[in-house]
Amino acid sequence: MSEKGPAPIQALTARPSWKALQAHWNTLSAVHLRDMFANDATRGDRLNTEAAGLYLDYSKQRVTSETLGLLNALATECGLRERIDAMFRGDKINVSEKRAVLHVALRAPAGTTITVDGVNVVPEVQAVLARMETFARSIRSGDWKGHTGKRIRNIVNIGIGGSDLGPVMAYEALRWYSDRSLAFRFVSNVDGTDFVEATRDLDAAETLFIVSSKTFTTLETMTNAQTARAWAVAALGSNAAVAKHFVAVSTNAEGVAKFGIDTVNMFGFWDWVGGRYSMDAAIGLSTMIAVGPENFRAMLAGFNAMDEHFRSAPFERNLPVLMGLLGIWNNNFLGAQTVAVLPYDQYLKRFPAYLQQLTMESNGKHVTLEGATVDAATGPVYWGEPGTNGQHSFYQMIHQGTRIIPCDFIGFRKPLNELGRHHDLLMANVFAQTEALAFGKTAEQVKAEGTPDWLVPHRVFEGNRPTNTILADQLTPHTLGALVALYEHAVFTQGSVWGIDSFDQWGVELGKALAQRIIGELEAPATAPLTHDSSTNSLIRRYRSPN
Ligand code: F6P
Repeated sequence: MSEKGPAPIQALTARPSWKALQAHWNTLSAVHLRDMFANDATRGDRLNTEAAGLYLDYSKQRVTSETLGLLNALATECGLRERIDAMFRGDKINVSEKRAVLHVALRAPAGTTITVDGVNVVPEVQAVLARMETFARSIRSGDWKGHTGKRIRNIVNIGIGGSDLGPVMAYEALRWYSDRSLAFRFVSNVDGTDFVEATRDLDAAETLFIVSSKTFTTLETMTNAQTARAWAVAALGSNAAVAKHFVAVSTNAEGVAKFGIDTVNMFGFWDWVGGRYSMDAAIGLSTMIAVGPENFRAMLAGFNAMDEHFRSAPFERNLPVLMGLLGIWNNNFLGAQTVAVLPYDQYLKRFPAYLQQLTMESNGKHVTLEGATVDAATGPVYWGEPGTNGQHSFYQMIHQGTRIIPCDFIGFRKPLNELGRHHDLLMANVFAQTEALAFGKTAEQVKAEGTPDWLVPHRVFEGNRPTNTILADQLTPHTLGALVALYEHAVFTQGSVWGIDSFDQWGVELGKALAQRIIGELEAPATAPLTHDSSTNSLIRRYRSPN
């Protein structure tokens, strides 16, 4: 790669496999999933794959063997194999930031060699993990004492984006495995309410703040961290309390020291870990304290199992590659604009929110790696809620609306909390929903039930709505790691096909910069001149107005 950036590649829509996919869709679009199943009794047994404890049924996607072959050819033409190898090799595939992308090194077993700029990073990763373990054990055992000699009972993670969503999602997902004598809170929003509500019932003498920020410059996190320090110092009566009640997770040792946290109490990571790919780096410190080092290691093993599968399995059996390519099929050929993520497990309630950053900050891009405008739609909107709550809210639109909304259903064979028939009822809904979405209900069927003619159209379900079903045995730390890695690599697969940089996030900059300017203006006298557009000026004036 030259200083100017990567060499131009062929426009995506001009690729032979893209054109072939378009022609293929033109004929397949008229085919209903009902017919695909009717014409192939083995479809449900064939169109599935399994890896790292996750079973994916994609037979209810609107694809045939030909579609899958063409998608595979597209991935090959776009150099996906080379991109995967480049990532695992530590090449600087985040071209706009000139960084390697090595979250896979965070979960590589000790003894593996992965180099960045000639340095094997695995021993560094293992060294940080070992320090995290010592620290997590000292909190869990009560050996770590607060400023007044009390043991720590409350852990408050202060961070935002990748420094919040991963930790809070993982804490909720693995809550069943957590130490219930410890309370965990997560403060992210610069809205003071977030901090106030998270801390109002906490005893400062028993509270540890983990200030998590890759850059240690993020406005929201730094503001909340300053507030937390003032809160703790006021309650504990001494600046010396900071040493026992604050630790930091960051790549910025200087910033941490400047804030007043001794770097002895800092857990580091590296610029080759993107914020949204960091829940298994030291950013996962709160997770490790909650579930213990053994469970954290099991989660890393789950990540690693999926990494190894992604690296080595042929594309036609490769779970993340398949998920990624099916997403491209739905997005670019069926024209779907969103994906609903529907975990049928209450512990995964924050999983859709976590996935929003992972998918949309990664693939919400408008230019290719070489800076040209993309010629096809890139990342869709991800959203979702745990089942069955969504069923009584937005599923109406998924079943009968005018938009195609592909869905990822996620369920488990065994519950963590056995409670009467609850789990059977829950999972019956997963299977029923995907069946209903695929097969629908025809006017003939509705009529045959004795429905009056005028009501028939209202009760018809077109069906033919694409879904994935991801089924695992049980929600364990290992399963969670595999599940997150599955989506991480599916995102990378899609980014590689679209030819975009899935690892930068320039789109967050403009708003941040303008906010910096406006902060000063909001705090200036109401008469200070404003030079924005007339709308922004008028909003600021109204806000600043004394009455
Ligand atoms: O503003 C977006 C972002 O840069 C995310 O990519 C990141 O996860 C988040 O802010 C938090 O950044 P930091 O960990 O540096 O505070």
